Amino acid sequence: MEMRLTRRGIALPAAMLTCAVLLVMLPEVTSTRFIVGSNMGWTSNVNYTVWARDRHFYLGDWLFFVYDRNQMDVLEVNKTNYETCNSDHPLHNYTTGAGRDVVPLNVTRHYYFISSKGFCYGGMKLAVLVEDLPPPPSASKIKEKSGSSRFTFRSQIIIPALFAVAAVWDSFLLFL
Ligand SMILES: *[C@@H]1O[C@H](CO)[C@@H](O)[C@H](O)[C@H]1NC(C)=O
Ligand SMILES: *[C@@H]1O[C@H](CO)[C@@H](O)[C@H](O)[C@H]1NC(C)=O
Ligand SMILES: *[C@@H]1O[C@H](CO)[C@@H](O)[C@H](O)[C@H]1NC(C)=O
Ligand SMILES: *[C@@H]1O[C@H](CO)[C@@H](O)[C@H](O)[C@H]1NC(C)=O
Repeated sequence: MEMRLTRRGIALPAAMLTCAVLLVMLPEVTSTRFIVGSNMGWTSNVNYTVWARDRHFYLGDWLFFVYDRNQMDVLEVNKTNYETCNSDHPLHNYTTGAGRDVVPLNVTRHYYFISSKGFCYGGMKLAVLVEDLPPPPSASKIKEKSGSSRFTFRSQIIIPALFAVAAVWDSFLLFL
């Protein structure tokens, strides 16, 4: 019985410390992973100019292209070749063959993506401007922006973090 009390005395502060560490780390999580075309993915019949128009892309964010690997691909081209849908001189070929390709937006500049095989002519082209990260938002700014995808992504981090805390907590309880 005495042993149990001693262990509880250790486990409780340890679990609380884990909570505290996670809460301190959370404001650092600012990158967003954008699924290109949202639930439509990377495909024909989506206007990616419209998709990108209301979004902000910041240094450190990611683009995630999800598409039919048997038909489409993901090529980064320069502005001229984006406008003319010329896929002969890609700057970067992100196609891995899985139909799920990740592009790190690791430079502040314009990025231009097209799918070759004729799809670009139908509008399968995306231009994004990657900007420097804005200063860390204050509490009031977080409230203002609560509807944005950036904040949604944060809550996607927070929820798994809470599960992680719960898992750590459970493992401590197992020792009691
Ligand atoms: C894009 O690359 C092509 C060669 O593939 C070149 O002729 C053109 O000037 C380049 N455009 C820009 C904006 O750099
Ligand atoms: C891009 O890379 C993929 C996978 O290596 C390859 O199959 C494809 O031919 C490449 N496309 C171009 C346009 O270079
Ligand atoms: C950015 O990411 C691309 C693709 O992974 C890589 O080729 C490039 O070297 C990276 N650039 C910097 C500045 O990290
Ligand atoms: C996408 O929408 C923009 C803005 O409404 C329009 O200017 C552009 O022509 C459209 N692109 C395609 C491929 O339909």
